[in-house]
Amino acid sequence: MAVPNVKLNNGKQMPLVGFGLWKVNNDTCADQVYNAIKTGYRLFDGACDYGNEKEAGQGVKRAIDEGLVKREELFIVSKLWNSFHDKERVGPICKRQLADWGLEYFDLFIIHFPIALKYVDPSVRYPPGFFIEDNKTIELSKTSLETTYHAMEELYDAGLIRAIGISNYTGALILDVERYAKHLPQTLQIEHHPYLVQQDLIDLCHNRGIAVTAYSSFGPQSFLEMNMQSAQDTPLLMEHDVIKGIAAKHGKTPAQVLLRWSTQRNIAVIPKSNNQTRLAQNLDVCGFEMSEAELKSISALDKDLRFNNPTNYGFPIPIFS
Ligand SMILES: NC(=O)c1ccc[n+]([C@@H]2O[C@H](COP(=O)([O-])OP(=O)(O)OC[C@H]3O[C@@H](n4cnc5c(N)ncnc54)[C@H](OP(=O)(O)O)[C@@H]3O)[C@@H](O)[C@H]2O)c1
Repeated sequence: MAVPNVKLNNGKQMPLVGFGLWKVNNDTCADQVYNAIKTGYRLFDGACDYGNEKEAGQGVKRAIDEGLVKREELFIVSKLWNSFHDKERVGPICKRQLADWGLEYFDLFIIHFPIALKYVDPSVRYPPGFFIEDNKTIELSKTSLETTYHAMEELYDAGLIRAIGISNYTGALILDVERYAKHLPQTLQIEHHPYLVQQDLIDLCHNRGIAVTAYSSFGPQSFLEMNMQSAQDTPLLMEHDVIKGIAAKHGKTPAQVLLRWSTQRNIAVIPKSNNQTRLAQNLDVCGFEMSEAELKSISALDKDLRFNNPTNYGFPIPIFS
C-alpha cells in the first residue's frame, strides 16, 4: 500500500497517512505500533499528553531491531504539552520525550495547544494534564506563544526536531507566527471532518506553504469514547447517508471515504484504531478518486461543530471563542 508524501516547506517529506496514538492503551501500545509498522504505517502521531510514548517507542525499537524498517524511514511526531511552554522548559521536556521514545530526534514536534499553563514538575505528575501541581486548579503561565515558538526553533537549529508544527491555532495566530518566526512552521494540525470543515483556515495555510494535518477525521466517533454529550447528540458521520452512498459507489467503507475526503485535498490524516482490521483499512485511503461533486457534497455537511475544545472537557479556556 503506497502512501504518498507531502513535501514540507523545508524540503522534508511527510507521509499523507499516519497512525494517531491518542487513547491507544498502554498495555497494547507497543504491539500496536509494531503491527502498524508491519502493516505499512510510517508516521506515528504521539504526544506527552497521550501518556504512551515509552510504549510506542518500544514498538518502534522492536520493528527496527527486527529489520522491518530503518529509523530514517519512519516519521515520528510528538507534541509539546501546555505545561512546558516556558522557554527554559521546552528543551528539557523535549529531551525527556525523546528518551521515552528511545530516539535521537523527532521528525516533527508540535505546539499541542496555543495555551501556556503553569509548569508542573514531571516528578510530581506526568503527563500533567490541565491542572497545576495540586491536581485541582488551572493556572496560566505568563509565557507568550512567541517565546515558546523561539524555544522550538532552538530545538530545530540543534537538530533535535526536524520540523516545527503548531496545532489548534486559528488564522490570526498563524498570521502572527509569520511575523516572528525565523523558521516558518512546517505543519498545522487541526480538528477537521465534514462537520468542521474550516476551509478558509486550510486555504490560508496551503497558500503559505504550511501543510495541514487533520485530526479526529471521523468527527463525533472519537469523542463517544470520552462520553462527550455533543458527540452523543450528533449523528455519526460513518452512518450518514451521504457518506454511506459514496462509500457504496466506490466499494469502500465510510471510514475510508472520510479519510479520502482529506487526502484527496492534500490534507494529511492520522486515524487511530485499536483494531488491526480497521488499522489496515485506514491506511488504504489514497488509491481511489472521488468526483468534485462528491467532495463538495461531503463538505456541504459542515455544521461548524467542534468537539476537541477545552471547554467541552470543563476547562474554562475558550481558545476558539
Ligand atoms: N492536536 C490535537 O489536539 C489532537 C486532538 C485529537 C486527536 N489528535 C490526533 O489525531 C489522532 C486521530 O484522532 P482521534 O483519535 O480523535 O480520532 P479518529 O481517528 O477520528 O477516531 C477514532 C475512533 O474511530 C474508530 N475507528 C477507527 N478506524 C475506524 C474504521 N475504519 N471504522 C470504524 N471505526 C473506526 C476508533 O475505534 P477503534 O479504536 O475501536 O477502531 C475510535 O473510536 C489521535 O489519535 C491523535 O494522534 C490530535
